[in-house]
Amino acid sequence: MKKELEERGKEALKGIAGAQTPEELYEVHVKYLGRKGIVTLMMQGISKLPQNDRAEAGKLFNKSKKSLEEAYAEREEMLKAESVKRALNERWVDVTLSGRQYEVGHIHPISQVQQEVEKIFSEMGFSVMDGPEVESEYYNFDGLNILQNHPARDMQDTFFIDQEPTKKDGHLVLRTQTSPVQLRTMEKYGAPARVIVPGRVFRNEATDASHEHTFDQVEGLLIDKDISLAHLKGVMQEFLTRLFKRETKVRFRPGYFPFVEPGVELDMSCMICNEQGCRVCKQTGWLEFMGAGMVHPNVLKAGGVDSQKYQGWAFGFGLTRLVMMRYGIDDIRLLSSGDVRFLKQF
Ligand code: PHE
Repeated sequence: MKKELEERGKEALKGIAGAQTPEELYEVHVKYLGRKGIVTLMMQGISKLPQNDRAEAGKLFNKSKKSLEEAYAEREEMLKAESVKRALNERWVDVTLSGRQYEVGHIHPISQVQQEVEKIFSEMGFSVMDGPEVESEYYNFDGLNILQNHPARDMQDTFFIDQEPTKKDGHLVLRTQTSPVQLRTMEKYGAPARVIVPGRVFRNEATDASHEHTFDQVEGLLIDKDISLAHLKGVMQEFLTRLFKRETKVRFRPGYFPFVEPGVELDMSCMICNEQGCRVCKQTGWLEFMGAGMVHPNVLKAGGVDSQKYQGWAFGFGLTRLVMMRYGIDDIRLLSSGDVRFLKQF
């Protein structure tokens, strides 16, 4: 029996060493060490031995069983490690390869300047308002004192939405100016009010270096008691001085817009030549900057503000034009071209 045990033990060890996969190894385990395995069955035979031999045989079996179990565990470890290694080899990663570079975007120049404008006006106590880009004829025109026969309402200037007009609001249009938000602000918050409204506007124009169908404006509205154009002059001089980080002057010329009375055009001193006269300011020393004026009583009325008690001014300037002035961009179309070679420069 001792001899047989030795032989079976050797056989089992050989089987364990020769197993190439966890499955093969498991089969060896079943054959020798399992519940009906050869070694197990032999162990059960101990009880049939004469009393005196049993203890020694038991020791022998335990020893051999233990060494088989150990060999089994060791081989199992090894096969597992090998299979992990194999898997890694099949899906290997070259850690020395350089990574894929992703380009990081940045804020569009128009948005950059818009954020600066918002910051300066916020510091002066203005709130930033928003309004719809698809607007009604009422807010874009009638409520602003722009009558039915005004040329701006012409099919050639305004994009109309192809939809039945309503009696109250007329057609839907793409807003041609940010001024409709003057009315929306008054309706919503009443007087006093102090807001700016940066936003996109649309005009049905043939495009060239200085005209686009889509561009950005900033509207301003201040309503309170005892307000005059002197306040506007002060606010704009301060705003432009902070924006261009240099002393900037402003001047008024008469101008006409149906929703203001009186209306003005505001010019700023040319920051290129310091009023000496250059190509950019066409030798005048001044640059046209925006339209403005005292809010027309009809507009205050339409907005529900008592024009006997309150008055105010409004202005509108081209944010797109400001960006072009700021960076010396000579073609407006570049700004919406999506050309990264252009955009990367800002
Ligand atoms: N909305 C006018 C424009 O687009 C500008 C403006 C705004 C003029 C407010 C006066 C007052 O040309």
